[in-house]
Amino acid sequence: MKICMIGVGYVGLVSGACFADLGNTVYCIDNNQDKIDMLNMGKIPIYEPGLSEIVKKNYLSNRLKFSTNLKDAVIKSDIIFICVGTPSSKGKKSANLKYVFNAANELSKYINKFKIIVNKSTVPVSTGDIVEKIILKKKKKKLFEVVSNPEFLREGEAIRDFRFPDRIVIGCNNKKVIRKLESLYDPLIKKGAFFLSTSRRGAELIKYASNAFLATKISFINEIANLCEKTGVNVEDVSIGMGLDKRIGSRFLRAGPAYGGSCFPKDIAALAVTGDQYKTNLSIIKSVMKSNSNRKILLIERIKRILSNKIKNKEIAVLGVTFKPNTDDMRQSSSLKLLPFLQKKGAKINYYDPSGEKKEFSRLKNISFCRNIKEACKKADLIIIHTEWDEFKTIDFKKVSKNKKVKIYDMRNLYSSSKMQKLGFLYYSIGR
Ligand code: UDX
Repeated sequence: MKICMIGVGYVGLVSGACFADLGNTVYCIDNNQDKIDMLNMGKIPIYEPGLSEIVKKNYLSNRLKFSTNLKDAVIKSDIIFICVGTPSSKGKKSANLKYVFNAANELSKYINKFKIIVNKSTVPVSTGDIVEKIILKKKKKKLFEVVSNPEFLREGEAIRDFRFPDRIVIGCNNKKVIRKLESLYDPLIKKGAFFLSTSRRGAELIKYASNAFLATKISFINEIANLCEKTGVNVEDVSIGMGLDKRIGSRFLRAGPAYGGSCFPKDIAALAVTGDQYKTNLSIIKSVMKSNSNRKILLIERIKRILSNKIKNKEIAVLGVTFKPNTDDMRQSSSLKLLPFLQKKGAKINYYDPSGEKKEFSRLKNISFCRNIKEACKKADLIIIHTEWDEFKTIDFKKVSKNKKVKIYDMRNLYSSSKMQKLGFLYYSIGR
């Protein structure tokens, strides 16, 4: 099939490249000429393991094309995916849909025969109805169908999540269109993906409800971890014990420093706003937002206690600052609160992250980027493991630190408490 992806960001580029890899011809369209030029020169603008290879392979086989020419791509395509960003509105918590509506308005000019318009961007319930109204201003209903097809891609695992999704959700009531999309996704369905068709609004809400539930699960175990610290229980035993109940499931029950990323915080806030708009108080979701935000303060309190409130002039090494491993994404990472706080209290911070130096810290005094673990840790009074990159899982702390009294705060429970204590380290972790 011929497909047009409008928006060559995280979702559009990964999905476009993977659709091309399934044998489709894919036109990836963006209004950012520099980004398109970069892609046509073989440079990938996002950090996603495996993406460069799959883009290159399909670009060279002429199945994947990058352009700013929306008209040409819409005319040639059967299916048009809207994959533009839906950031939080400035100062508010609702989703900013102007890019979605612009895309709908633009593409409607070039509908020359029946087209399937698919919203892949994460959009509040009923956005598809508005997109339909925008296109109806220029085109008769019989010339298009607006569908919701949310993505469930995790950063760092996006290609795997595209290729082996638990489910493909299609929000549409037109049987012919559902069949067409079922055949587009057929290679994934054959490998075990469940194909679910529902109403358009149903698909829109499935996306938000899924993210909100995952964030709730994380906040739940993070709060249980707090109680574990007070009651001398190992939170990992609780996670395992809970997860063995198939109704709960073991995934997304790892206690940590607070969830971050470009999706959970934004989508949960937007869902709470949708609830208010429909006069339905989503109190659990609002408490998850509050719990996650408070958690960052709670971690800072913990660090103050570990350093006996003497932060000034302390050398602190921070290993990992991204919101999760295998990405360079800093959006809503708990390090964005943590490092500036410690800096303001007079600490000297040396951080190392495998994805490189971060602009978010480059203007802050006494926060330096180091090239490796040893450089960051050698003179540290406190080593904080913030992000669970693989290379942080087998550190020989006696080698990397010269300070016999170094303290270690492992925010991702990468090490065994008993082993670290046997090695003579002052070791702290989460919920243990
Ligand atoms: C998420 C959803 O998982 C994905 O389905 C959706 O399409 C986009 O949003 P992503 O934000 O890339 O994906 O990362 P994810 O792996 O979900 O982690 C989100 C945050 O939760 C990270 O900060 C991570 O560290 C944290 N997390 C995750 C935990 O603290 N504990 C866990 O057990 C899992």
